[in-house]
Amino acid sequence: MRRLENQVALVTGGSRGIGRAIAVELARLGADVAINYRGGKDEAEETARLIEAEGGKSFVAQADVSDKDQARGLVKQVVDHFGRLDILVNNAGITRDKTLKKLTDDDWDAVIHTNLNSVYYTVSAALPSMLQQEHGRIINISSFVGQAGNFGQSNYSASKGGIIAFTKSAAQELARNNITVNAIAPGFTLTEMLAQVPENIQEKILDKIPMRRFGKPEEIARTVAFLAADGDYITGQQINVNGGVYM
Ligand SMILES: NC(=O)c1ccc[n+]([C@@H]2O[C@H](COP(=O)([O-])OP(=O)(O)OC[C@H]3O[C@@H](n4cnc5c(N)ncnc54)[C@H](OP(=O)(O)O)[C@@H]3O)[C@@H](O)[C@H]2O)c1
Repeated sequence: MRRLENQVALVTGGSRGIGRAIAVELARLGADVAINYRGGKDEAEETARLIEAEGGKSFVAQADVSDKDQARGLVKQVVDHFGRLDILVNNAGITRDKTLKKLTDDDWDAVIHTNLNSVYYTVSAALPSMLQQEHGRIINISSFVGQAGNFGQSNYSASKGGIIAFTKSAAQELARNNITVNAIAPGFTLTEMLAQVPENIQEKILDKIPMRRFGKPEEIARTVAFLAADGDYITGQQINVNGGVYM
């Protein structure tokens, strides 16, 4: 894989889980990495320590990416700090799982604002730098649920399906500027998000995964790194890293 020296990455929700693994993997390939978090300062600082252990430079930035001003301010802070932005990984995400009968407007809005609107906010803010550089790698973390739907996840599936559609439109617009836009659709992956699912349900989920195991955050991170480092001619794609749970 090519190295990412002299490139700057921003990982939203980089404080833990999949985002932390992505931040560390990009640093391992030589990128300088900005780690965004909303509330978990200690966890974000732990990610920064892991990056420094790889010999990388890091920058920790608090921002709630569901808020348009904070999301755009985050991108500006990163560009001001490092002088450029090459790799934008929209990873921050939440769930508020309920069936439609119980779902509230607040559950709907929180998930759509955090998972989907944030992607538009950060991409729109990153564009001036990427257009000027004539180089950019935008990688949006979707979910297989955005392709298949899931019981009790109408808000989450809408946000993740929206990410895939956004990715394809943005890719068409930005290809001529050497900015690629791709989505990764993980399956069930071992993080705190999955740990919220009751154990008996986790066992039922495992039965439906052809590979009979959950994914590891590092497996998503390696796919992000591949797109960032070697994905020059890949754009508008949704790459499934899901153990076969959705084909
Ligand atoms: N785990 C899975 O099974 C799975 C499957 C498919 C897709 N995904 C997707 O993968 C991504 C990462 O998931 P994960 O499992 O690693 O989740 P996680 O362990 O719950 O971590 C979520 C991360 O997002 C951050 N975050 C949440 N809301 C935010 C906001 N408004 N502004 C800024 N940061 C925010 C959190 O930071 P704070 O702690 O500071 O709030 C944390 O760093 C998500 O987009 C998720 O939908 C996960």
